[in-house]
Amino acid sequence: MVKELRLALIGFGTVGQGLAELLLEKRDWLRAAYGLDLRLVAVATARSGFLARAEGLDEAELLRLAASGQPLTAYASAEVKRWPTVGEGLAATGADVLVEVTGTNLRDGEPGLSHIRQALEQGLHVVTANKGPVALAAHELLALAARKGVHLRMEATVMAGTPVLSTLREGLAGARILSLSGILNGTTNYILTEMGQGRSYAEALAEAQRLGYAEADPTADVEGYDALAKTLILAALVFGLPLRPEQVLRRGIAGIAQEEVRAAQAEGRRIKLVASLRLRGVGGLSQASAGGQAAELPVEARVEPMALPLDHPLARVDGVMNALTIESDTLSSVTVIGPGAGRRQTAQGLLADLLAIARSRS
Ligand code: HSE
Repeated sequence: MVKELRLALIGFGTVGQGLAELLLEKRDWLRAAYGLDLRLVAVATARSGFLARAEGLDEAELLRLAASGQPLTAYASAEVKRWPTVGEGLAATGADVLVEVTGTNLRDGEPGLSHIRQALEQGLHVVTANKGPVALAAHELLALAARKGVHLRMEATVMAGTPVLSTLREGLAGARILSLSGILNGTTNYILTEMGQGRSYAEALAEAQRLGYAEADPTADVEGYDALAKTLILAALVFGLPLRPEQVLRRGIAGIAQEEVRAAQAEGRRIKLVASLRLRGVGGLSQASAGGQAAELPVEARVEPMALPLDHPLARVDGVMNALTIESDTLSSVTVIGPGAGRRQTAQGLLADLLAIARSRS
């Protein structure tokens, strides 16, 4: 028997469209291999409001409208109902899962934070690729989800679809995590790699923007705020710690000169923007204490450029690739390497979370 999971998709930009494409592409296979029908029953954008159709919306038609620059309100069906806001639409329609993929806002997490709170309050599961709400409020939102007996999953927020959160939570169940160090931002890794090959900082950044890796405002990438957001998410999920942004030492790569990148290369090192979380009292890459961090925090959190020796697992992770090295009491060191940005790659993270929710309901 085929089971159904009814989705309300909030946000129809790059990531939302990437998920719609995957739903279309994989519909038959998901039915055959997983006995699952992932049915899109609502979609919302700031421009078009909240549109819902109980029998399901046609992803191909929505993608066609988006590609031709038309509002989704031009969807050709009399059965589509519309509400001006997500709040009203969500309150009025039935869905099993909210898929929240509006743009990331690292200042206050809105509007995604309100969408996620409302959905959890209503007893919907939530899957998100939106870093802002979970970087700033994962602790609160996970507690709310637990109270309501629903799932809040966020695989796509860290390293896109590369399965790091599920590896930490499920694959490494029972292990005590001692430290995490990662290359968590594709744009800066791409820039540093290209600079190592002779390109200027400005050229490499422009190319990363053209390829669609960079945030809407690339300051978030090059100043380390995007990696910081992912560090906060990991701190909440792995260490149960509601860290605030100002508790993470942060340095970006904006001022980095090509001579610096080349000089490190000449010494057999690679400069990488490394995000790290380390239980205090456990040794590692950086032994210096992070200035400005409250000494009582059980975990030291940093985002900073580091010149890594070539035998370090992160040193040869190049281009837009991301990686996370996990040190634990049972496996010493495990490194997961994979794409950290991109339309299809991020949609994969959402898909994996949806399948995990479907599994838990069977
Ligand atoms: N701008 C981000 C990056 C996108 O470059 O990694 C994925 O979070």
